[in-house]
Amino acid sequence: MAMLETERIEELRRALSKPLPEIPSKYLYDDHGAALFDTITRLPEYYQTRTEESILAACATDLIGRVKPLALAELGSGVGTKIRLLLDAMQRAGRMDSCTFLDINEQMLSESIIALRELYPGLEVRGIRGDFERDVDRLGPGGNRLVLFLAGTIGNLHPDAVPGFLGKVAKQMEPGDGFLVGLDLVKDPARLEAAYNDRDGVTAEFNLNSLNVVNAMFDADFDVRAFQHRAFWDAENEWIDIRVRARTPTRARIHAIDMTIELDAGDEIRTELSCKYTRESFERLLEGTGLGISAWYTDDDELFCDALVQRV
Ligand SMILES: C[S@@+](CC[C@H](N)C(=O)[O-])C[C@H]1O[C@@H](n2cnc3c(N)ncnc32)[C@H](O)[C@@H]1O
Repeated sequence: MAMLETERIEELRRALSKPLPEIPSKYLYDDHGAALFDTITRLPEYYQTRTEESILAACATDLIGRVKPLALAELGSGVGTKIRLLLDAMQRAGRMDSCTFLDINEQMLSESIIALRELYPGLEVRGIRGDFERDVDRLGPGGNRLVLFLAGTIGNLHPDAVPGFLGKVAKQMEPGDGFLVGLDLVKDPARLEAAYNDRDGVTAEFNLNSLNVVNAMFDADFDVRAFQHRAFWDAENEWIDIRVRARTPTRARIHAIDMTIELDAGDEIRTELSCKYTRESFERLLEGTGLGISAWYTDDDELFCDALVQRV
């Protein structure tokens, strides 16, 4: 089931009531946010997308040879272009039946499906508008399937939520199925912070837009001009912490959840976490989920990794 209105309201109320108030990161991706993210992927500071594309191009044949999937699925599929590198490898291997995209943003979902149908006639393409934290079961039963979760999006989940999420994914996997997880790796903090503080201010606009999204979806009146973007490396937790900070005292009424939030200058709302991993830290999150790493595909500089995870 897609998220119900009441669940969504409760989720936002809980998030904004935390000692450090939060807005769930999925609210970064309305149509404007999705377009801004697409721009971010091409910024010089944002090494993640081009690095992951080069890893997928290099590992596609080996990956498809190991899993031998007939079906691909992608969680948080967005523009849905990276998957083509794997579909091409499946086509070369002569095994390609179906592809499923799951994303919260309806417009991206329909555009990516249309593009894929045009590029791969005969491929069965399905879209699920849903929330990957709740709706992984809507992929349906596995078997000869490779599920992708690219771009380091798993890093948007708090580490405490990752084992539960992975357990849900494991339930949808048959022995031999694969789950390919894009992981942004721990590296020089300056390089990490630059990726979230680009010179052109696109990431700042993307981040601040989440207040517009809450205004529109929850009948709220955040004054976006009263906030500034902040993103910094938290070395202890190994995550980039992304927030909006009040420049001046400000208040917002969020009518749909019957809540008023009052902030002093300098007070912050967390809008996203982007956790970074090492092989060891990711292995710890897999403990007890029934899944283990069967391949670790990385670039020469070890900036990013696509980890193939399978049932053990
Ligand atoms: C970082 S982008 C990655 C897009 C694409 N997979 C790529 O590799 O470029 C994250 C994607 O996940 C989607 N998304 C974010 N939170 C979501 C959620 N809770 N459930 C489903 N989709 C979500 C966004 O709409 C966006 O398309």
